[in-house]
Amino acid sequence: MKVTRIVISLVFVLAFIIAAVGCAPAKPAQPAEPAKKVWTYKDMTVGFLQTGSEGGWRAANSASFKETATQLGINLKFYDSQNDLAKQVAGFQQFIQDPEVDVIVMSPLEVTGWDQVLKDAKAAGKPVILSDRRIDGFEDYYVTFIGADFVEEGRKSGTEMCNLLKDSASKNVWELVGNVGAAPAIDRGKGFRETAEKCGIKVTKSQTANWSIKEGKEVTEAWLKETKDVQGVFGQNDEMAFGAIEALKEAGLVPAVDVKIISVDATAGAFQAMLDGTLNVTVECNPLLAPQVYEAALAALNGETLPKWIPSQESVFFMVDPKLKEIAAGRKY
Ligand code: AHR
Repeated sequence: MKVTRIVISLVFVLAFIIAAVGCAPAKPAQPAEPAKKVWTYKDMTVGFLQTGSEGGWRAANSASFKETATQLGINLKFYDSQNDLAKQVAGFQQFIQDPEVDVIVMSPLEVTGWDQVLKDAKAAGKPVILSDRRIDGFEDYYVTFIGADFVEEGRKSGTEMCNLLKDSASKNVWELVGNVGAAPAIDRGKGFRETAEKCGIKVTKSQTANWSIKEGKEVTEAWLKETKDVQGVFGQNDEMAFGAIEALKEAGLVPAVDVKIISVDATAGAFQAMLDGTLNVTVECNPLLAPQVYEAALAALNGETLPKWIPSQESVFFMVDPKLKEIAAGRKY
C-alpha cells in the first residue's frame, strides 16, 4: 500500500514539474550574434602618415605603399608631413576624425610627441601601425612596429669602419647624423659607437645634416676648413655620404681612399658611388615595407594579435665585391 502511495505522489510531482516548465514563459529567442565582419584588402582604407620626401630611400618607401595599395585594391590616403612634426601630428588627428579611415599607419618623424593622438586613436577604435621607425614607449597604443633594427645597422657600420681602418695609425671618424629626435639618427649613432670604439675609433665630429646631400656637403666643408685630420666618414644615410664625398673631392682628398666612407640605406645611388669607387660600404635599410604593413593592418582589423616588432631583413654591400655590378643590376631600389 505504502509503495503505491509513494509512486502516486512521485507521478504527481513529475506532472507538476512538467506542467510548470511547460507553462514557463518561453525565453525570447536571443537575437543571433551579427556575423563577425571579415575584412579584406578591398574593404580597407589606410591613412598613411609619411615623413616627407627626403631622398632615394623615402621615394622607394612611398612608392612601395602606393604601388602595393593599387595591387591589393586598398584605398590609401597618403599624407606627406613635409618633414614637419607638427604637420604629422595634425595629419594623425585628421585621420582619427576621418570616418573613412579604418587603420592609421605612421612613419614617425621623431620618437616622442605621440601621447595624445595615440590615446585618441585608441578611444576611436582605430588600430595604429608603426612603419619604418619606432617611437619611445606607448606599446599598448599601437598594434606593431614593422621596420629595421637601426642599432644593428649602426653596429654593422662600426664593424666595417674598423675593418677599413685596421692598418690606419689614427682613426678619427666624422658622423653625419639624420634629423634630430628620429629613431634612426639616435639608434645608428648608438650602434656605431658600440662597435667602432672597440677598435679605437674616435668620433671626433658629429652633426645633423638632415638626411640631405646639400647639408651633408655643407657640414663636411665646414669641418674641412677646421682640419683634414679625418680617416673615415659615417653617413647615417646615402645622401649625406654623397654630400661628404663631393666636399672631400673639392678639398683635394680622395674619397674611399684617403678617407673611408660608409653609408646606410643601400639605394641605387650608393651602388653607383661604389661602382665609381667613391664609397667603400653601404649598410642596407629596406624601404619595401608596404606588403608586410598592409598584411598587419588587415590582421589587426580582423582582431588578430601581432608581435610588437616585425623586423625587416637587411644586408651589407662592399665596393670591393667582385659581383657588385651584377648585384646592382638586380636591385629594386
Ligand atoms: O627611417 C629611415 C631613414 O629615413 C633612411 O635611412 C633615410 O634615408 C630616411 O630619411
